[in-house]
Amino acid sequence: MSDDLFKNIISHSKEYGFIFPSSEIYDGLGAVYDYGQNGVLLVNNIKEYWWKSMVQMHENIVGIDSSIFMHPKVWKASGHVDAFNDPLIDNKDSKKRYRADVLIEEHIAKIEDKIKKEVEKAAKRFGETFDAEMYRSTNPRVMEYQAKIDQINARFKKALEENQLDEIKKIIEDSEIVCPISGSRNWTDVRQFNLMFSTQMGSVAEDSDTIYLRPETAQGIFVNFLNVLNTSRQRIPFGIAQIGKAFRNEIVARQFIFRMREFEQMEMQFFVRPGEEMKWYEYWKETRINWHKKLGIDAAKYKFHDHLKTAHYANAAVDIEFEFPFGFKELEGIHSRTDFDLKQHQELSGKKLQYFDPELNQSYIPYVVETSIGVSRTFLAILSSAYQKEVLENGEERVVLKIHPTLAPNKVAILPLVKKDGLPEKARALFNSLKMDLYTQYDEKDSIGKRYRRQDALGTPFCITIDHQSLEDNTCTIRHRDSMQQERMPIDAVHRLILEKTSWNQLLS
Ligand code: GAP
Repeated sequence: MSDDLFKNIISHSKEYGFIFPSSEIYDGLGAVYDYGQNGVLLVNNIKEYWWKSMVQMHENIVGIDSSIFMHPKVWKASGHVDAFNDPLIDNKDSKKRYRADVLIEEHIAKIEDKIKKEVEKAAKRFGETFDAEMYRSTNPRVMEYQAKIDQINARFKKALEENQLDEIKKIIEDSEIVCPISGSRNWTDVRQFNLMFSTQMGSVAEDSDTIYLRPETAQGIFVNFLNVLNTSRQRIPFGIAQIGKAFRNEIVARQFIFRMREFEQMEMQFFVRPGEEMKWYEYWKETRINWHKKLGIDAAKYKFHDHLKTAHYANAAVDIEFEFPFGFKELEGIHSRTDFDLKQHQELSGKKLQYFDPELNQSYIPYVVETSIGVSRTFLAILSSAYQKEVLENGEERVVLKIHPTLAPNKVAILPLVKKDGLPEKARALFNSLKMDLYTQYDEKDSIGKRYRRQDALGTPFCITIDHQSLEDNTCTIRHRDSMQQERMPIDAVHRLILEKTSWNQLLS
Protein backbone atom coordinates (compact mmCIF):
# COMPACT_ATOMS: atom_id res chain seq x y z
CA MET A 1 0.00 0.00 0.00
CA SER A 2 1.43 3.37 -0.91
CA ASP A 3 0.86 6.94 -1.94
CA ASP A 4 1.62 5.88 -5.51
CA LEU A 5 -1.17 3.32 -5.50
CA PHE A 6 -3.60 5.93 -4.18
CA LYS A 7 -2.52 8.47 -6.82
CA ASN A 8 -2.89 5.81 -9.53
CA ILE A 9 -6.39 4.96 -8.36
CA ILE A 10 -7.42 8.62 -8.39
CA SER A 11 -6.09 9.19 -11.89
CA HIS A 12 -7.55 5.89 -13.14
CA SER A 13 -10.95 6.89 -11.74
CA LYS A 14 -10.85 10.10 -13.75
CA GLU A 15 -9.38 8.63 -16.95
CA TYR A 16 -11.96 5.84 -17.17
CA GLY A 17 -15.08 7.79 -16.21
CA PHE A 18 -15.52 6.57 -12.66
CA ILE A 19 -15.12 9.76 -10.61
CA PHE A 20 -14.77 13.44 -11.53
CA PRO A 21 -14.16 16.38 -9.17
CA SER A 22 -17.39 18.38 -8.84
CA SER A 23 -17.63 21.56 -10.99
CA GLU A 24 -14.18 20.81 -12.34
CA ILE A 25 -14.26 23.52 -15.01
CA TYR A 26 -14.39 26.00 -12.09
CA ASP A 27 -11.44 24.23 -10.40
CA GLY A 28 -13.65 21.93 -8.34
CA LEU A 29 -15.38 22.20 -4.98
CA GLY A 30 -13.60 20.88 -1.89
CA ALA A 31 -14.46 17.30 -0.96
CA VAL A 32 -17.36 17.07 -3.42
CA TYR A 33 -17.20 14.60 -6.31
CA ASP A 34 -19.35 13.37 -9.22
CA TYR A 35 -19.65 9.83 -10.50
CA GLY A 36 -19.01 9.38 -14.22
CA GLN A 37 -20.51 6.98 -16.74
CA ASN A 38 -18.84 3.89 -15.27
CA GLY A 39 -18.76 5.06 -11.66
CA VAL A 40 -22.54 5.47 -11.53
CA LEU A 41 -23.04 1.87 -12.67
CA LEU A 42 -20.73 0.61 -9.91
CA VAL A 43 -22.47 2.85 -7.35
CA ASN A 44 -25.89 1.53 -8.41
CA ASN A 45 -24.65 -2.05 -8.11
CA ILE A 46 -23.20 -1.43 -4.63
CA LYS A 47 -26.51 0.06 -3.51
CA GLU A 48 -28.45 -2.80 -5.06
CA TYR A 49 -26.23 -5.37 -3.34
CA TRP A 50 -26.85 -3.69 0.02
CA TRP A 51 -30.58 -3.18 -0.58
CA LYS A 52 -31.16 -6.75 -1.70
CA SER A 53 -29.17 -8.18 1.22
CA MET A 54 -31.19 -6.10 3.68
CA VAL A 55 -34.70 -5.72 2.28
CA GLN A 56 -35.11 -8.55 -0.22
CA MET A 57 -33.31 -11.19 1.85
CA HIS A 58 -34.91 -10.35 5.21
CA GLU A 59 -38.62 -10.89 5.73
CA ASN A 60 -38.42 -8.63 8.76
CA ILE A 61 -36.73 -5.61 7.12
CA VAL A 62 -38.58 -3.05 4.99
CA GLY A 63 -37.19 -0.07 3.10
CA ILE A 64 -38.21 3.59 2.99
CA ASP A 65 -37.01 6.74 1.27
CA SER A 66 -37.43 9.79 3.49
CA SER A 67 -36.75 13.38 2.49
CA ILE A 68 -33.49 15.22 3.09
CA PHE A 69 -35.21 18.24 4.66
CA MET A 70 -36.78 17.50 8.01
CA HIS A 71 -38.39 19.50 10.77
CA PRO A 72 -35.64 21.44 12.65
CA LYS A 73 -36.73 19.87 15.94
CA VAL A 74 -35.56 16.49 14.62
CA TRP A 75 -31.94 17.63 14.97
CA LYS A 76 -32.52 19.13 18.37
CA ALA A 77 -34.05 15.83 19.55
CA SER A 78 -31.32 13.71 18.00
CA GLY A 79 -28.63 15.74 19.76
CA HIS A 80 -26.97 16.85 16.52
CA VAL A 81 -27.54 20.56 17.16
CA ASP A 82 -25.73 20.37 20.49
CA ALA A 83 -23.26 17.56 20.05
CA PHE A 84 -22.42 16.79 16.41
CA ASN A 85 -18.98 18.35 16.68
CA ASP A 86 -15.42 17.64 15.64
CA PRO A 87 -12.47 18.82 17.77
CA LEU A 88 -10.33 21.02 15.52
CA ILE A 89 -6.79 22.31 15.84
CA ASP A 90 -4.76 24.58 13.56
CA ASN A 91 -1.05 24.65 12.95
CA LYS A 92 0.01 28.30 13.25
CA ASP A 93 2.88 27.96 10.77
CA SER A 94 1.25 26.09 7.90
CA LYS A 95 -2.21 27.58 8.69
CA LYS A 96 -3.57 24.07 8.05
CA ARG A 97 -6.53 22.80 10.04
CA TYR A 98 -6.72 19.26 11.42
CA ARG A 99 -9.09 17.10 13.38
CA ALA A 100 -7.35 16.70 16.72
CA ASP A 101 -8.72 13.17 17.18
CA VAL A 102 -7.41 12.13 13.76
CA LEU A 103 -3.92 13.51 14.52
CA ILE A 104 -3.83 11.36 17.66
CA GLU A 105 -5.24 8.28 15.93
CA GLU A 106 -2.69 8.58 13.13
CA HIS A 107 0.10 8.92 15.68
CA ILE A 108 -1.08 5.70 17.35
CA ALA A 109 -1.27 3.98 13.94
CA LYS A 110 2.39 4.92 13.34
CA ILE A 111 3.43 3.27 16.62
CA GLU A 112 1.35 0.20 15.69
CA ASP A 113 3.22 0.11 12.41
CA LYS A 114 6.54 0.07 14.26
CA ILE A 115 5.33 -2.94 16.28
CA LYS A 116 4.26 -4.68 13.10
CA LYS A 117 7.69 -4.13 11.54
CA GLU A 118 9.49 -5.45 14.64
CA VAL A 119 7.30 -8.57 14.59
CA GLU A 120 7.86 -9.13 10.87
CA LYS A 121 11.63 -8.77 11.29
CA ALA A 122 11.65 -11.27 14.15
CA ALA A 123 9.44 -13.69 12.20
CA LYS A 124 12.04 -13.70 9.43
CA ARG A 125 14.87 -14.18 11.92
CA PHE A 126 13.30 -17.06 13.86
CA GLY A 127 11.59 -18.88 11.01
CA GLU A 128 8.85 -21.45 11.49
CA THR A 129 9.12 -21.76 15.25
CA PHE A 130 8.27 -18.07 15.71
CA ASP A 131 5.42 -17.32 18.12
CA ALA A 132 4.19 -13.78 17.37
CA GLU A 133 1.96 -13.52 20.45
CA MET A 134 4.78 -14.57 22.76
CA TYR A 135 7.14 -12.09 21.07
CA ARG A 136 4.66 -9.24 21.49
CA SER A 137 4.30 -9.94 25.21
CA THR A 138 8.02 -10.37 25.97
CA ASN A 139 10.15 -8.25 23.62
CA PRO A 140 11.14 -5.09 25.55
CA ARG A 141 10.98 -2.73 22.57
CA VAL A 142 7.55 -3.97 21.44
CA MET A 143 6.31 -3.79 25.03
CA GLU A 144 7.53 -0.22 25.29
CA TYR A 145 5.65 0.74 22.09
CA GLN A 146 2.51 -1.02 23.32
CA ALA A 147 2.71 0.76 26.69
CA LYS A 148 2.94 4.09 24.87
CA ILE A 149 -0.19 3.26 22.84
CA ASP A 150 -2.11 2.17 25.93
CA GLN A 151 -1.14 5.32 27.79
CA ILE A 152 -2.19 7.65 24.94
CA ASN A 153 -5.44 5.72 24.46
CA ALA A 154 -6.32 5.93 28.14
CA ARG A 155 -5.69 9.69 28.29
CA PHE A 156 -7.49 10.29 25.00
CA LYS A 157 -10.57 8.27 26.05
CA LYS A 158 -10.86 10.20 29.31
CA ALA A 159 -10.39 13.55 27.56
CA LEU A 160 -13.11 12.72 25.01
CA GLU A 161 -15.53 11.49 27.65
CA GLU A 162 -15.04 14.57 29.79
CA ASN A 163 -14.85 16.90 26.78
CA GLN A 164 -11.50 18.26 27.99
CA LEU A 165 -10.22 20.11 24.94
CA ASP A 166 -7.10 21.36 26.80
CA GLU A 167 -6.11 17.80 27.60
CA ILE A 168 -6.51 16.79 23.93
CA LYS A 169 -4.10 19.58 22.97
CA LYS A 170 -1.72 18.42 25.70
CA ILE A 171 -1.76 14.85 24.36
CA ILE A 172 -0.80 16.21 20.93
CA GLU A 173 2.03 18.23 22.48
CA ASP A 174 3.24 15.44 24.78
CA SER A 175 3.22 12.95 21.88
CA GLU A 176 5.37 15.43 19.92
CA ILE A 177 2.97 15.30 16.97
CA VAL A 178 4.10 17.63 14.20
CA CYS A 179 2.15 19.24 11.36
CA PRO A 180 2.79 17.14 8.23
CA ILE A 181 3.10 20.33 6.16
CA SER A 182 5.23 22.70 8.29
CA GLY A 183 6.86 20.06 10.49
CA SER A 184 6.28 22.34 13.49
CA ARG A 185 4.55 21.81 16.84
CA ASN A 186 3.11 25.31 16.93
CA TRP A 187 -0.55 24.43 17.62
CA THR A 188 -3.60 26.55 18.45
CA ASP A 189 -6.06 25.48 21.15
CA VAL A 190 -8.57 22.76 20.29
CA ARG A 191 -12.10 23.98 19.48
CA GLN A 192 -15.39 22.21 18.77
CA PHE A 193 -16.98 22.73 15.35
CA ASN A 194 -20.54 21.69 14.40
CA LEU A 195 -20.66 19.72 11.15
CA MET A 196 -24.23 20.42 10.02
CA PHE A 197 -25.01 22.56 6.98
CA SER A 198 -27.94 24.87 7.50
CA THR A 199 -30.17 26.77 5.13
CA GLN A 200 -33.40 28.81 5.23
CA MET A 201 -36.84 27.52 4.34
CA GLY A 202 -39.47 30.08 3.36
CA SER A 203 -39.34 33.08 1.04
CA VAL A 204 -39.36 35.98 3.48
CA ALA A 205 -36.27 36.27 5.63
CA GLU A 206 -38.14 37.15 8.84
CA ASP A 207 -40.56 34.23 8.46
CA SER A 208 -38.03 31.68 7.40
CA ASP A 209 -36.91 28.80 9.57
CA THR A 210 -33.37 27.53 9.81
CA ILE A 211 -33.36 23.97 8.63
CA TYR A 212 -30.50 21.53 8.22
CA LEU A 213 -29.30 19.25 5.47
CA ARG A 214 -29.46 15.88 7.19
CA PRO A 215 -26.06 14.69 8.49
CA GLU A 216 -27.32 11.08 8.65
CA THR A 217 -30.25 9.27 7.08
CA ALA A 218 -31.10 7.45 10.33
CA GLN A 219 -33.41 10.18 11.69
CA GLY A 220 -35.72 9.78 8.68
CA ILE A 221 -36.19 6.20 9.84
CA PHE A 222 -36.85 7.09 13.49
CA VAL A 223 -39.52 9.66 12.67
CA ASN A 224 -41.24 7.09 10.43
CA PHE A 225 -41.07 4.26 12.97
CA LEU A 226 -44.74 4.57 13.89
CA ASN A 227 -45.89 4.95 10.27
CA VAL A 228 -44.14 1.73 9.27
CA LEU A 229 -45.30 -0.12 12.38
CA ASN A 230 -48.92 0.89 11.74
CA THR A 231 -48.95 0.21 8.01
CA SER A 232 -46.92 -3.01 7.76
CA ARG A 233 -47.30 -6.37 9.42
CA GLN A 234 -43.92 -6.08 11.09
CA ARG A 235 -43.53 -7.04 14.73
CA ILE A 236 -40.42 -6.63 16.86
CA PRO A 237 -37.69 -7.51 16.07
CA PHE A 238 -37.81 -5.78 12.70
CA GLY A 239 -35.73 -3.34 10.69
CA ILE A 240 -36.17 -0.29 8.46
CA ALA A 241 -33.55 0.33 5.77
CA GLN A 242 -32.79 3.40 3.75
CA ILE A 243 -30.26 4.64 1.21
CA GLY A 244 -29.85 8.36 0.78
CA LYS A 245 -27.74 11.48 0.75
CA ALA A 246 -26.19 12.95 3.86
CA PHE A 247 -24.22 16.18 4.27
CA ARG A 248 -21.44 17.14 6.66
CA ASN A 249 -19.29 20.22 6.65
CA GLU A 250 -16.14 18.13 7.06
CA ILE A 251 -13.23 20.36 7.90
CA VAL A 252 -10.47 17.98 7.11
CA ALA A 253 -11.44 16.33 3.87
CA ARG A 254 -8.33 15.43 1.95
CA GLN A 255 -8.79 11.79 1.11
CA PHE A 256 -10.61 11.76 -2.23
CA ILE A 257 -14.05 10.14 -1.87
CA PHE A 258 -13.26 8.74 1.60
CA ARG A 259 -14.45 11.85 3.39
CA MET A 260 -16.86 14.01 1.43
CA ARG A 261 -19.16 16.86 2.29
CA GLU A 262 -22.02 15.33 0.30
CA PHE A 263 -22.24 11.55 0.35
CA GLU A 264 -24.64 8.65 0.46
CA GLN A 265 -25.33 6.38 3.39
CA MET A 266 -26.92 2.94 3.50
CA GLU A 267 -28.44 2.65 6.97
CA MET A 268 -30.63 0.12 8.71
CA GLN A 269 -32.23 0.54 12.12
CA PHE A 270 -33.21 -2.73 13.75
CA PHE A 271 -35.84 -2.34 16.49
CA VAL A 272 -35.55 -4.85 19.32
CA ARG A 273 -36.82 -5.65 22.79
CA PRO A 274 -34.94 -3.72 25.52
CA GLY A 275 -32.32 -6.00 27.01
CA GLU A 276 -31.90 -7.98 23.78
CA GLU A 277 -29.85 -5.32 22.03
CA MET A 278 -26.43 -6.91 22.65
CA LYS A 279 -27.56 -10.21 21.10
CA TRP A 280 -28.64 -8.34 17.97
CA TYR A 281 -25.53 -6.17 18.01
CA GLU A 282 -23.43 -9.36 17.78
CA TYR A 283 -25.74 -10.74 15.10
CA TRP A 284 -25.35 -7.62 12.92
CA LYS A 285 -21.58 -7.49 13.42
CA GLU A 286 -21.34 -11.01 12.07
CA THR A 287 -23.87 -10.46 9.26
CA ARG A 288 -22.23 -7.28 8.05
CA ILE A 289 -18.66 -8.60 8.00
CA ASN A 290 -19.93 -11.57 5.98
CA TRP A 291 -21.54 -9.16 3.50
CA HIS A 292 -18.11 -7.61 2.92
CA LYS A 293 -16.31 -10.93 2.69
CA LYS A 294 -18.68 -12.16 -0.05
CA LEU A 295 -17.02 -9.64 -2.35
CA GLY A 296 -13.96 -11.87 -2.46
CA ILE A 297 -11.59 -9.17 -1.17
CA ASP A 298 -8.69 -10.42 1.01
CA ALA A 299 -10.18 -10.99 4.49
CA ALA A 300 -7.03 -9.53 6.11
CA LYS A 301 -8.07 -6.13 4.78
CA TYR A 302 -10.99 -5.98 7.23
CA LYS A 303 -10.90 -5.63 10.99
CA PHE A 304 -13.23 -4.63 13.81
CA HIS A 305 -12.34 -1.56 15.83
CA ASP A 306 -14.27 -0.91 19.05
CA HIS A 307 -14.95 2.77 19.72
CA LEU A 308 -12.97 4.34 22.54
CA LYS A 309 -15.79 6.77 23.14
CA THR A 310 -19.28 5.95 21.91
CA ALA A 311 -21.38 8.66 20.24
CA HIS A 312 -23.93 10.52 22.37
CA TYR A 313 -26.66 8.02 21.42
CA ALA A 314 -24.87 4.65 21.76
CA ASN A 315 -24.07 2.10 24.48
CA ALA A 316 -21.81 0.02 22.23
CA ALA A 317 -20.20 0.81 18.89
CA VAL A 318 -17.77 -0.87 16.56
CA ASP A 319 -16.34 0.06 13.17
CA ILE A 320 -15.58 -2.34 10.40
CA GLU A 321 -12.28 -0.92 9.24
CA PHE A 322 -10.80 -1.50 5.81
CA GLU A 323 -7.18 -1.23 4.76
CA PHE A 324 -7.44 1.66 2.28
CA PRO A 325 -4.28 2.76 0.42
CA PHE A 326 -3.73 5.23 3.31
CA GLY A 327 -4.15 2.63 6.07
CA PHE A 328 -6.95 1.02 8.10
CA LYS A 329 -9.94 3.40 8.34
CA GLU A 330 -13.66 3.18 9.11
CA LEU A 331 -15.78 1.68 6.37
CA GLU A 332 -18.94 0.87 8.31
CA GLY A 333 -20.30 1.55 11.79
CA ILE A 334 -22.47 -0.76 13.88
CA HIS A 335 -24.05 0.94 16.85
CA SER A 336 -26.30 -0.11 19.68
CA ARG A 337 -28.30 3.13 19.91
CA THR A 338 -30.43 2.12 22.92
CA ASP A 339 -33.84 3.86 23.00
CA PHE A 340 -32.14 7.26 22.83
CA ASP A 341 -33.56 8.50 19.52
CA LEU A 342 -37.17 7.28 19.86
CA LYS A 343 -37.28 8.52 23.44
CA GLN A 344 -36.01 11.96 22.43
CA HIS A 345 -38.50 12.19 19.55
CA GLN A 346 -41.31 11.07 21.84
CA GLU A 347 -40.39 13.84 24.26
CA LEU A 348 -40.03 16.65 21.73
CA SER A 349 -42.94 15.70 19.47
CA GLY A 350 -45.32 14.70 22.25
CA LYS A 351 -46.27 11.59 20.21
CA LYS A 352 -46.09 8.17 21.84
CA LEU A 353 -43.42 6.16 20.01
CA GLN A 354 -44.00 2.82 21.69
CA TYR A 355 -44.58 -0.75 20.76
CA PHE A 356 -47.07 -3.08 22.40
CA ASP A 357 -45.39 -6.45 22.80
CA PRO A 358 -48.15 -9.08 22.87
CA GLU A 359 -45.81 -11.76 24.27
CA LEU A 360 -44.81 -9.61 27.23
CA ASN A 361 -48.20 -7.92 27.39
CA GLN A 362 -46.53 -4.54 27.85
CA SER A 363 -45.60 -1.41 25.91
CA TYR A 364 -42.09 -0.09 25.61
CA ILE A 365 -39.85 2.12 23.51
CA PRO A 366 -37.82 -0.33 21.42
CA TYR A 367 -34.03 -0.41 21.51
CA VAL A 368 -32.19 -0.01 18.23
CA VAL A 369 -29.18 -1.63 16.63
CA GLU A 370 -27.96 0.32 13.62
CA THR A 371 -25.76 -0.64 10.70
CA SER A 372 -24.45 2.33 8.72
CA ILE A 373 -22.14 2.33 5.73
CA GLY A 374 -21.10 4.95 3.19
CA VAL A 375 -21.55 4.21 -0.51
CA SER A 376 -18.39 6.08 -1.51
CA ARG A 377 -16.24 4.31 1.10
CA THR A 378 -17.50 0.96 -0.18
CA PHE A 379 -16.71 2.17 -3.71
CA LEU A 380 -13.17 3.15 -2.69
CA ALA A 381 -12.61 -0.14 -0.85
CA ILE A 382 -13.72 -2.12 -3.90
CA LEU A 383 -11.76 0.02 -6.34
CA SER A 384 -8.53 0.04 -4.35
CA SER A 385 -8.47 -3.72 -3.90
CA ALA A 386 -9.60 -4.38 -7.49
CA TYR A 387 -6.95 -2.13 -9.07
CA GLN A 388 -3.96 -4.18 -10.20
CA LYS A 389 -1.02 -3.61 -12.50
CA GLU A 390 0.23 -6.80 -14.14
CA VAL A 391 3.20 -7.49 -16.39
CA LEU A 392 2.16 -9.82 -19.20
CA GLU A 393 4.20 -12.60 -20.81
CA ASN A 394 5.12 -10.32 -23.73
CA GLY A 395 6.50 -7.73 -21.29
CA GLU A 396 3.57 -5.33 -21.73
CA GLU A 397 1.75 -3.97 -18.71
CA ARG A 398 -1.99 -4.10 -18.15
CA VAL A 399 -4.13 -2.34 -15.57
CA VAL A 400 -7.09 -4.45 -14.58
CA LEU A 401 -9.96 -3.87 -12.17
CA LYS A 402 -10.77 -7.23 -10.63
CA ILE A 403 -14.22 -6.20 -9.42
CA HIS A 404 -16.68 -8.94 -8.45
CA PRO A 405 -18.52 -9.77 -11.74
CA THR A 406 -21.94 -9.03 -10.21
CA LEU A 407 -20.85 -5.50 -9.25
CA ALA A 408 -18.80 -4.74 -12.38
CA PRO A 409 -20.19 -1.69 -14.24
CA ASN A 410 -20.43 -3.57 -17.54
CA LYS A 411 -20.80 -7.33 -17.62
CA VAL A 412 -19.65 -8.05 -21.14
CA ALA A 413 -18.10 -6.39 -24.20
CA ILE A 414 -18.85 -7.55 -27.74
CA LEU A 415 -15.89 -7.11 -30.07
CA PRO A 416 -15.86 -7.94 -33.79
CA LEU A 417 -12.29 -9.00 -34.66
CA VAL A 418 -12.24 -6.69 -37.70
CA LYS A 419 -14.54 -3.96 -38.94
CA LYS A 420 -15.51 -5.75 -42.18
CA ASP A 421 -16.59 -9.07 -43.75
CA GLY A 422 -19.96 -9.02 -41.93
CA LEU A 423 -18.37 -9.36 -38.47
CA PRO A 424 -19.77 -6.05 -37.11
CA GLU A 425 -23.30 -7.08 -38.15
CA LYS A 426 -23.00 -10.43 -36.43
CA ALA A 427 -21.51 -8.79 -33.32
CA ARG A 428 -24.27 -6.14 -33.23
CA ALA A 429 -26.95 -8.83 -33.38
CA LEU A 430 -25.45 -10.45 -30.26
CA PHE A 431 -25.09 -7.02 -28.57
CA ASN A 432 -28.78 -6.27 -29.24
CA SER A 433 -29.90 -9.58 -27.79
CA LEU A 434 -27.87 -9.13 -24.59
CA LYS A 435 -28.50 -5.49 -23.78
CA MET A 436 -32.03 -6.06 -22.44
CA ASP A 437 -30.65 -8.07 -19.53
CA LEU A 438 -27.03 -7.01 -19.20
CA TYR A 439 -24.96 -3.83 -19.31
CA THR A 440 -23.14 -4.62 -22.55
CA GLN A 441 -20.50 -2.65 -24.43
CA TYR A 442 -19.92 -2.76 -28.17
CA ASP A 443 -16.48 -1.77 -29.43
CA GLU A 444 -14.97 -2.10 -32.89
CA LYS A 445 -12.28 0.61 -32.74
CA ASP A 446 -8.52 -0.19 -32.46
CA SER A 447 -6.71 -3.53 -32.35
CA ILE A 448 -8.30 -6.38 -30.42
CA GLY A 449 -5.42 -6.21 -27.88
CA LYS A 450 -6.12 -2.54 -27.16
CA ARG A 451 -9.83 -3.24 -26.81
CA TYR A 452 -9.14 -6.02 -24.28
CA ARG A 453 -6.93 -3.59 -22.29
CA ARG A 454 -9.71 -1.00 -22.31
CA GLN A 455 -12.25 -3.48 -20.92
CA ASP A 456 -9.72 -4.74 -18.33
CA ALA A 457 -9.29 -1.16 -17.13
CA LEU A 458 -13.10 -0.84 -16.76
CA GLY A 459 -13.37 -4.14 -14.92
CA THR A 460 -15.57 -5.84 -17.55
CA PRO A 461 -15.45 -9.53 -16.59
CA PHE A 462 -16.09 -10.98 -20.07
CA CYS A 463 -15.18 -10.10 -23.64
CA ILE A 464 -16.81 -11.89 -26.56
CA THR A 465 -14.91 -11.82 -29.85
CA ILE A 466 -16.71 -12.45 -33.11
CA ASP A 467 -14.31 -13.68 -35.82
CA HIS A 468 -14.51 -15.28 -39.26
CA GLN A 469 -15.15 -18.72 -37.79
CA SER A 470 -18.24 -17.24 -36.07
CA LEU A 471 -19.79 -16.74 -39.52
CA GLU A 472 -19.24 -20.40 -40.35
CA ASP A 473 -20.21 -22.25 -37.17
CA ASN A 474 -21.93 -19.62 -34.97
CA THR A 475 -19.25 -19.84 -32.26
CA CYS A 476 -17.25 -17.05 -30.60
CA THR A 477 -14.39 -16.73 -28.13
CA ILE A 478 -15.06 -15.72 -24.57
CA ARG A 479 -12.17 -14.08 -22.72
CA HIS A 480 -12.08 -14.07 -18.94
CA ARG A 481 -10.82 -10.78 -17.45
CA ASP A 482 -8.82 -12.13 -14.51
CA SER A 483 -7.11 -15.15 -16.09
CA MET A 484 -7.12 -13.73 -19.65
CA GLN A 485 -7.95 -17.30 -20.74
CA GLN A 486 -9.95 -17.62 -23.94
CA GLU A 487 -12.35 -20.41 -24.88
CA ARG A 488 -14.48 -21.11 -27.89
CA MET A 489 -18.20 -21.47 -27.27
CA PRO A 490 -21.51 -21.39 -29.14
CA ILE A 491 -22.87 -17.84 -29.50
CA ASP A 492 -26.29 -19.12 -28.43
CA ALA A 493 -24.89 -20.08 -25.01
CA VAL A 494 -23.35 -16.65 -24.24
CA HIS A 495 -26.47 -14.98 -22.83
CA ARG A 496 -27.19 -17.69 -20.26
CA LEU A 497 -23.58 -18.10 -19.19
CA ILE A 498 -23.03 -14.40 -18.52
CA LEU A 499 -26.36 -13.99 -16.76
CA GLU A 500 -25.42 -16.86 -14.47
CA LYS A 501 -21.88 -15.65 -13.76
CA THR A 502 -23.03 -12.12 -12.96
CA SER A 503 -26.31 -12.92 -11.20
CA TRP A 504 -27.14 -11.63 -7.70
CA ASN A 505 -27.17 -15.25 -6.64
CA GLN A 506 -23.37 -15.13 -6.68
CA LEU A 507 -23.40 -12.61 -3.82
CA LEU A 508 -26.63 -13.33 -2.00
CA SER A 509 -26.72 -17.10 -1.74
N1 GAP B 1 -26.13 7.04 11.60
C1 GAP B 1 -24.85 6.77 12.12
C2 GAP B 1 -23.78 7.47 11.43
O1 GAP B 1 -24.02 8.33 10.61
P1 GAP B 1 -21.18 7.58 11.18
O2 GAP B 1 -20.14 6.63 11.72
O3 GAP B 1 -21.02 9.02 11.41
O4 GAP B 1 -22.54 7.04 11.79
C3 GAP B 1 -21.63 6.06 9.12
O5 GAP B 1 -21.31 7.33 9.63
C4 GAP B 1 -20.90 5.77 7.84
O6 GAP B 1 -21.12 6.81 6.89
C5 GAP B 1 -19.38 5.71 8.00
O7 GAP B 1 -18.96 4.43 8.42
C6 GAP B 1 -18.91 6.03 6.59
O8 GAP B 1 -18.93 4.87 5.77
C7 GAP B 1 -19.97 6.99 6.09
N2 GAP B 1 -19.51 8.39 6.20
C8 GAP B 1 -19.55 9.17 7.31
N3 GAP B 1 -19.06 10.39 7.03
C9 GAP B 1 -18.69 10.37 5.73
C10 GAP B 1 -18.12 11.34 4.84
N4 GAP B 1 -17.85 12.57 5.23
N5 GAP B 1 -17.84 10.98 3.56
C11 GAP B 1 -18.14 9.73 3.14
N6 GAP B 1 -18.69 8.79 3.92
C12 GAP B 1 -18.96 9.09 5.20
